[in-house]
Amino acid sequence: MDYSSVAVGAARQRADELHVPCRYVVAEVPGVPLKDDSADLVYTGKGALIWMRDIDAWARDVARVVRPGGHLFVYEAHPAVPLWSWDEDDVRVRPDRSYFAESHLNDTYPANGAREWQWTLGQIVTAITSAGLQLQVLEEYAEPFWRPQNGTNAAAWSGRLPNSYALLARQPSQ
Ligand SMILES: C[S@@+](CC[C@H](N)C(=O)[O-])C[C@H]1O[C@@H](n2cnc3c(N)ncnc32)[C@H](O)[C@@H]1O
Repeated sequence: MDYSSVAVGAARQRADELHVPCRYVVAEVPGVPLKDDSADLVYTGKGALIWMRDIDAWARDVARVVRPGGHLFVYEAHPAVPLWSWDEDDVRVRPDRSYFAESHLNDTYPANGAREWQWTLGQIVTAITSAGLQLQVLEEYAEPFWRPQNGTNAAAWSGRLPNSYALLARQPSQ
């Protein structure tokens, strides 16, 4: 699901090339036009939650469509990532950013200029569990989910800091 017909078109093309039967939907989240309990698995990730203005509404949407016994899987940039500079010589915490800020302006490739919403790990977990899903796994990783292809190798990605996380939550069986 994506509200960009360009992104959905690219996904459809990829699925066709791989002969994978996929149905893509152009729609905005929250407000997913899918039936209640219709999904075995919902995946959200790799730069999706930063576009969610209302994390609770997103979580409620997910909980509505995941069937009893089904799962939510999230693989995302760690919420601390906006704090790390891309300096290559040493890790620095950016003085213009806060872990607890509502949003920040992206000033690096590829989303340069975009305002990204920030959600702490606590806010994300609380939104998911408040929507009725049960947290099963939450792991934090040093490796970012994405590295720029221009060769930048920030010291923040050398293994000492969290750069991504994975979360698995389950819809209780009825
Ligand atoms: C970085 S990409 C996500 C990548 C993808 N999830 C993956 O794992 O490769 C972010 C996508 O979110 C879409 N998007 C942003 N806000 C959205 C919203 N409110 N509803 C639906 N799609 C949205 C954008 O069009 C963009 O294609």
